[in-house]
Amino acid sequence: MAGLISEATIEQVRSASDIVDVIGSYVPLKRNGANFVALCPFHKEKTPSFNVSPNKQTFHCFGCHKGGNVISFVMEFENLPFPDAVRRLADRAKIPIETDNDPGQKQTRHLKDQLLTVHEQITQRWQNALANEASGQPARDYLTKRGVSAEAIKLFRLGYAPDVWDDTVNWARSKGYDTALMEQSGLILRKEGSDHFYDRFRGRLIFPICDEQGRVIGFSGRVLDAEAKTAKYVNSPETPIFTKGKVFFGLDKSRKALLDAECAIVCEGQLDLIACYMGGVQNVVAPQGTALTAEHARILKRHVEEVVLCFDSDDAGQNAAVRSLDSLLASGLAVRVAVVPAPHDPDSFIKEAGAAAFRELIERADGFFDYYLKRLCQQNDVATDKGRLTILQEMAQAVQKTGNAVMIDTYAQKTALRLGVSEEAARVQFGIAPRVQANAPVEPIEELSQSTAKTARPSDHEFWLLRLLLLSENGEVTLPAQFDLDWIQHLAVKQIMSQCLDAQHNGSWRGVADFLTHCEAPDMRSLITEAIMPKRTLRNVAQQLSDVVRTLRNQAIDRRISAITGRLGQLELTEAEQAELVREQQALRQRKREPLTQPVPKTEAAVQVQTDPTNDDAEEPPNAPDDHVEEYRASIEGNADEPF
Ligand code: CTP
Ligand code: MN
Repeated sequence: MAGLISEATIEQVRSASDIVDVIGSYVPLKRNGANFVALCPFHKEKTPSFNVSPNKQTFHCFGCHKGGNVISFVMEFENLPFPDAVRRLADRAKIPIETDNDPGQKQTRHLKDQLLTVHEQITQRWQNALANEASGQPARDYLTKRGVSAEAIKLFRLGYAPDVWDDTVNWARSKGYDTALMEQSGLILRKEGSDHFYDRFRGRLIFPICDEQGRVIGFSGRVLDAEAKTAKYVNSPETPIFTKGKVFFGLDKSRKALLDAECAIVCEGQLDLIACYMGGVQNVVAPQGTALTAEHARILKRHVEEVVLCFDSDDAGQNAAVRSLDSLLASGLAVRVAVVPAPHDPDSFIKEAGAAAFRELIERADGFFDYYLKRLCQQNDVATDKGRLTILQEMAQAVQKTGNAVMIDTYAQKTALRLGVSEEAARVQFGIAPRVQANAPVEPIEELSQSTAKTARPSDHEFWLLRLLLLSENGEVTLPAQFDLDWIQHLAVKQIMSQCLDAQHNGSWRGVADFLTHCEAPDMRSLITEAIMPKRTLRNVAQQLSDVVRTLRNQAIDRRISAITGRLGQLELTEAEQAELVREQQALRQRKREPLTQPVPKTEAAVQVQTDPTNDDAEEPPNAPDDHVEEYRASIEGNADEPF
């Protein structure tokens, strides 16, 4: 096993790998002002919104919002885990990795190469058996019966494993592959307590499973005889080159179609995928009979923004669709569900109704939660209290996973309407504060707004605070002493600010690019890289920072004041309680008028960030005369003459 790569090596590798060089070796970069731009390699676009900053050593795409440093880029582009990406860059920069078991690693690479060769060779062997050997006749008949064309057989490299115990064993012997390697490949199995081996795949139609580069890394074998007592499918076990939960059948062929369509259709099985693909619906992948894993979702997210699940119409299929939700939501993909009419699966549906009908089914697919509501209503008795309660609970639980206030609210309403219960009741079940704040205590109001802020964009002022802070990261300007992190509602912004201020405070801050190395959350990374990629030169950073901070403080105070106002509307308050709340409001209004200490510019020039001055659609800092700033100006008008 390879050891952990030392922190020092990671930082050494990162700083030795110039981001412009590295990204430039994958995609053509064009200079644009202080930055470089390109067509984004992570999503489909016609005009470049992918930016690379040589200054900050970061990249950010304004289209798909991916961002990070040079290591994150390699991870994302090559689909590599962190240590592998660091190794790749270390190789390139000729930096030795500080671990003491390199020989082990070399061995692993060698083993993987050998396994790939074995897989490629046996694929050819089985293709040949299907195409030419007498023993392949039942498989040829089967494929004809299933309507799989010669073209499909060739494209997907289908094969046939003869129906004997030692075909693969003998084949390996004739090729000179040693038994240990063959055992590791999963193609042969040891007979328990003996030195005898036998074939895993016998008398089966073989579907080679490929990695994204089209290299065969495993197999799935289907029985030909519907009456057979053995499992319908036999699959490769986990091997050094194959992990079922990380591979999609067909992705090597559908990659381009996925990027073009910006949407992936997910079917369960190989035959479904082949039917879709050959029917001209090519943006399709198959996880091979399992629910989607987090890794599957991550792979999809690299190619598309939306997924249409099209599983079998049976319970197993529909349950797998529901079980896939968590992974998909966590990755930020939009999810719809298409249901082929029972008892079909996509394969049989396409064969019966045609590809055009299938395409229409996909186009008309419901959003996941509409689908789920329908399914719950089929599974439970809407006419009973118990049924309705179950539906409400299940819906609430599912929608809450989005963490999105608008979604939660929308589906609370839809569920209420569908079940004929009051909207208020549904809202309670969905964990939404009742609309009339009659009994709401003051505190939870802020808590709720904070939790819903998690997935939303930060406000302009929050975003600009982050931008100004990160752009003056060497402490050229400082925040006012009174600054309070609780003024920030957006959780990711708050977390970044908190970590960044801590690091600056205790001297461990080594710049944004280094910070990004340890920032694993994509939403946080994206915010950081967007924040430090302003399209215009920033001036008057100290003044801007001061304006922004003051606005944020006043907004926080206003939120508190209105929460109290809501509370004052309650009927059952005692006079003493009322008086207390009124006093608090007055104190808050007073606080809004208090000045903040002015942030200190050390050298204003040092924090002027040179970017492309010709870019006219650039965003503006909040003190520029645009709409939200007018609003901001208005909000401070009452005390404009006071210093802050
Ligand atoms: N599967 C599996 N092991 C099984 C059953 C199924 O790995 N014992 C996977 C296969 O990848 C299969 C997918 O789950 O393609 C879907 O299963 P199923 O619907 O049963 O198979 P189909 O592909 O529809 O096969 P067929 O149409 O030939 O029945
Ligand atoms: Mn099926």
